[in-house]
Amino acid sequence: MSLQHLKQSFISAYGESRQPIRYFQAPGRVNLIGEHIDYNGGYVLPAALEFGTTLAIRRREDDLVVFKSLNFPYESSIALSGLGASKTGEWVDYPVGVAVELAKLGTGLSSGYELLFHGEIPNGAGLSSSASIEVVTAYALLTMEEHERDTVEIALLSQRAENQYVGVNSGIMDQFAVANGAVDHAILLMCGTLEYKRVPFVTGSYKLVIGNTNKRRGLVDSKYNERRTECDQALAGLQVKFPELKFLADLTLEQFAETGSVLQDDVLYRRAKHVVEENSRVLKSVEALSHNDLISFGQYMNESHDSLRDLYEVSCDELDVMVEEARRIPGTLGSRMTGAGFGGCTVSLVHEDDVDLFVKQVGEEYQRRTGIQGEFYVCGVGNGVNELKEGN
Ligand code: GLA
Repeated sequence: MSLQHLKQSFISAYGESRQPIRYFQAPGRVNLIGEHIDYNGGYVLPAALEFGTTLAIRRREDDLVVFKSLNFPYESSIALSGLGASKTGEWVDYPVGVAVELAKLGTGLSSGYELLFHGEIPNGAGLSSSASIEVVTAYALLTMEEHERDTVEIALLSQRAENQYVGVNSGIMDQFAVANGAVDHAILLMCGTLEYKRVPFVTGSYKLVIGNTNKRRGLVDSKYNERRTECDQALAGLQVKFPELKFLADLTLEQFAETGSVLQDDVLYRRAKHVVEENSRVLKSVEALSHNDLISFGQYMNESHDSLRDLYEVSCDELDVMVEEARRIPGTLGSRMTGAGFGGCTVSLVHEDDVDLFVKQVGEEYQRRTGIQGEFYVCGVGNGVNELKEGN
């Protein structure tokens, strides 16, 4: 949607005023590799998408904060003093949770505001529509209030909003990628320390193809929390042998091989094995990408999916079918589920000459085998959160 169009929608929603309207945008993200690693303190390699959430915002002369969206009919008007007093279970909990976190940091709002959101990320698809809305809200409100905008702090406060206000116990990866992404770069983030670097993600004649299974992500929150608990239990078990161990992902492959029968519970063993091997795959992927070795990178993507399916058990039939069909296309170097799992999206690296065939054949076979119509987005890597200027 053009800014002109968003501006018109804003004026029809809120009318004219003497105050200027400003515009902000935050992307969605795709995780290239390093799945279910962030809350285990290891390496992840996400990238910002070229589409996301746009926010038009204007200061009010009174103390009402008004939230509207072009995607959802639900809207809300809350006095500053009542912000965060009651959760609604609606989309507004995300921006309200952010406003609450800003207030806790002493960077709360000095007046009311009018906000209008427009989201381009399919909800519940595992492409971080919630992190995108959180981060764009934090960045916009800090800008409007003329506070410093540290994108690492923005990621952290947005994660706290999601954990504490919305009530989903997610890790830091999504908010971090949305806040710190850069065009044509992936972010290598060490989640235990938050050290990061942007690594060039230049794939030449290969394209990233995101496949949306359109499978409703049932049980995702409860299963997600269950995996987190299992990892905590595995860590506690391994600390008997390695008392210094802080995070599961701190274990090297060699140390893990030495653990022998320490983890007697087969489920905990498999969860830990996934974490240790996936963490190592991220570093091998970065190494491969630095040599333009897309074939090895594609292989690591495949191994990642197989491990998420067999060891970590967060895939589902729909994701597995889509990945299986994707790998049948000759120009596919690698294909895997991305995000939390249990539905949502796959990401594949596909030669540009085969992208049309991919979309047609994987789409048809996926529908034939699952009865669900999938969707595909061929996308490049975009920027992290930023302000948009009219006329650009
Ligand atoms: C979700 C969470 C992230 C991360 C992924 C799995 O997207 O929000 O923090 O744990 O799942 O890698």
